[in-house]
Amino acid sequence: MQSTKSHIDEESMITPALVAKFGRGASQVVDEVKLREKRGQLALVLELARQRFERHDNTSETVARLAADLHDLRVTSGDGVWKQLIPLAQAHPVSQYLQQDPFTSWSFRKPRGYSGDAGLLDIIYQHPAANDAIASASGLGMEIFDYTVQASTSVAARERREILAREVDAAAEKAEHVEVLAVACGYLRESELSEAFRDGKLGRWVALDQDADSVEVVAAANRDTAIVPMVGNVSGLMRRTYDLGTFDLVYASGLYDYLPYAVAVRLTQRLVEMLKPGGAYLFANYSNEIRTDGYMETFMDWPLILRADVDMWQIVNAAVDRNQVDVEVFYGENRNIVYTRIRKKGA
Ligand SMILES: C[S@@+](CC[C@H](N)C(=O)[O-])C[C@H]1O[C@@H](n2cnc3c(N)ncnc32)[C@H](O)[C@@H]1O
Repeated sequence: MQSTKSHIDEESMITPALVAKFGRGASQVVDEVKLREKRGQLALVLELARQRFERHDNTSETVARLAADLHDLRVTSGDGVWKQLIPLAQAHPVSQYLQQDPFTSWSFRKPRGYSGDAGLLDIIYQHPAANDAIASASGLGMEIFDYTVQASTSVAARERREILAREVDAAAEKAEHVEVLAVACGYLRESELSEAFRDGKLGRWVALDQDADSVEVVAAANRDTAIVPMVGNVSGLMRRTYDLGTFDLVYASGLYDYLPYAVAVRLTQRLVEMLKPGGAYLFANYSNEIRTDGYMETFMDWPLILRADVDMWQIVNAAVDRNQVDVEVFYGENRNIVYTRIRKKGA
């Protein structure tokens, strides 16, 4: 039987149900004694947070403490037990408070039917397009939002957007009319930060995403520019369905966090093939050093595949011939995101 894992997100959308079915801990036998112990600890942590909300204690401190406690629980539970704790947390009355945060609530509700849609990224980017979604929040919701939007993972996502724009600008410095491919582009918000794009220096910027609504937003905002919006997915790229040619720069942000190892390797292989000599492929992944993982998996219902630098090297070593490329693996400023840049030798 072909591995079901390799089909988890090739076609389109990742959902927590898929991750729960095929992801870490899915087939682990659960130690009942440990499960009982951790269930008890979870109940205490959640009840403490609920009481603090009820007493109107400092909201940021309440959420920060809850997030730290959930991280500790996730780390000490092991995958199998943690997986069983998630629905218990989600069903707890404290959730009524947390779901007043527009960020938490958008992630949990999944208006597009999958985790990490471009609208959620707009909330994290504090983009004006997200103003309406934020404005309707309650007073408590705004206080929780003050914490979640400043959490280290959100800070790292905003830095990632800047890094992508700088990468495009650096490619445009090296050659004229460079060709760029953004895989899983969302709303391609990095284009708003790119000087090379603003100055009309790019040859083409193909913006590919599986979500036709997101691609339509990109199209509407960028008519008569170098941006070429395109509905497409990881599976189509790997099967060479699209006749896209080659690129000076290819990048993927907010995608590998959903890709199991086998898919990550095959996609990397394929995208490096699509580089011109001297071209670069940059991909990002949330790192296993993040501390908001427990909160994200419970109250945001947003599980991610976290990776360390060694995991990125493992993908690289399986995907490419190291004699043909130069590789850098590096962390963003707060180490919540790890990046890999593969540059094809030549040119
Ligand atoms: C977290 S968002 C990232 C958006 C953007 N790259 C950014 O950094 O702001 C993830 C995006 O991946 C897209 N996506 C998820 N699975 C995909 C797949 N298999 N093929 C193409 N796009 C995919 C989603 O539609 C979504 O727009």
